[in-house]
Amino acid sequence: MSEKVVLAYSGGLDTSVSIKWIKEKYGFDVVTCTIDVGQKEDLSEIAQRSKKIGSVNHHTIDAKEEFVKNYIWKSIRSNSLYEGAYPLSTALARPLLATKLVEVAEKENAVAVAHGSTGKGNDQVRFDVTVKALNPKLKVIAPVREWNLNREDEIKYAKRNGIPVSESKSIFSVDQNLWGRSIESGPLEDPFVEPPQEAFEWCVPLENTPNDPEYLDLEFEKGIPVSIDGKKTDPVNLINYVNAKAGLNGFGVIDHMEDRLVGIKSREVYECPGALTLINAHSDLEKLVLTRHELAFKSKVEQEWSWLVYAGLWQEPLRIALDSFIETTQERVSGTVRVRFYKGTMKVVGRKSENSLYQHKLSTYGRTSTFDQNAALGFIQLWGLPSIVANEKRLEKKTNGKIKAVPLARKYSNASRKNGN
Ligand code: ARG
Repeated sequence: MSEKVVLAYSGGLDTSVSIKWIKEKYGFDVVTCTIDVGQKEDLSEIAQRSKKIGSVNHHTIDAKEEFVKNYIWKSIRSNSLYEGAYPLSTALARPLLATKLVEVAEKENAVAVAHGSTGKGNDQVRFDVTVKALNPKLKVIAPVREWNLNREDEIKYAKRNGIPVSESKSIFSVDQNLWGRSIESGPLEDPFVEPPQEAFEWCVPLENTPNDPEYLDLEFEKGIPVSIDGKKTDPVNLINYVNAKAGLNGFGVIDHMEDRLVGIKSREVYECPGALTLINAHSDLEKLVLTRHELAFKSKVEQEWSWLVYAGLWQEPLRIALDSFIETTQERVSGTVRVRFYKGTMKVVGRKSENSLYQHKLSTYGRTSTFDQNAALGFIQLWGLPSIVANEKRLEKKTNGKIKAVPLARKYSNASRKNGN
């Protein structure tokens, strides 16, 4: 009996070719594993295809809830947007997939795991690093990377070997899960070309969106969305619901130039209606309940967190340590955010929380204000002191001493005596 390898099997061209290729070139028996992270594909059809091509065993794993609870929730709490744009939909799922591959490999007594990533992208890094961090004994095989395979060669190989692949289901390379849909290649490779409508499946073209605005009330508990319009909703359905509502209103398309970990710039197009809605709503709620110091520091942590996750370092202790910080900040992030969708836009139009730090009696310009405006004067004197001192020096030099620097303390105390303050 040959040694076994567990292949992450999506059912697409790369991984279908890999089943035969691995057996032929490496001599391993191939066990395939399809992990459901909400990609909405026919999983039993994929299982059959795997067997038909020649796998010795196939595993189908439903990891949707785990994906939401252990990955998506963390990314909402950290308002995660790589380069300010990409909600990490593909990036977040990879470490989960890698974890499942390792589990199956250990169950199957396999010596290696395999994936269909190329040598040009981020996904290879995410798979390899996670697998190695969890079980350094496992080898990682990536046929497309190791043999420099391209699409044309793969199609030829598939035809020669009777591998049933839908020749070119799409001109695009697509990866999708509950958190979003990544679309690459084809006409999108020219960054100046507007993405054609065929690229999109989740976000409705503006001309077909409702003519009246639609609203959602999103309730968060400790930074996690728990109910929609007052109805408690389980995690997977909640994400699906927000994806559908936002997508039907044409909201959620992202088109941006992205810096891949390996140094390549690429034009990336995504549909992430639910992710963008929930992250925006969550970050708005934080502005109501967190202090300015918490917000300022957290935004740096968020950037670092997003970068680590994008760069394949889910297992990095720093990521885990940052998570602890983020979790602590979420204690008070409970409340409701009202969002409005209209013709491709999403806006937060209201927010409330029992932990709100907003105090009407302080911020109002009306008669009921309790804020002592006189307190501002002394505050400004001290707040501006370093800048004022620096400028006095500059002025003195510029005017050759004609305008002399006056010690601030005296100047202000005279002024305040004169003003009777
Ligand atoms: N650029 C994105 C990322 O690195 C999306 C990658 C999409 N992957 C794919 N196989 N189509 O996360």
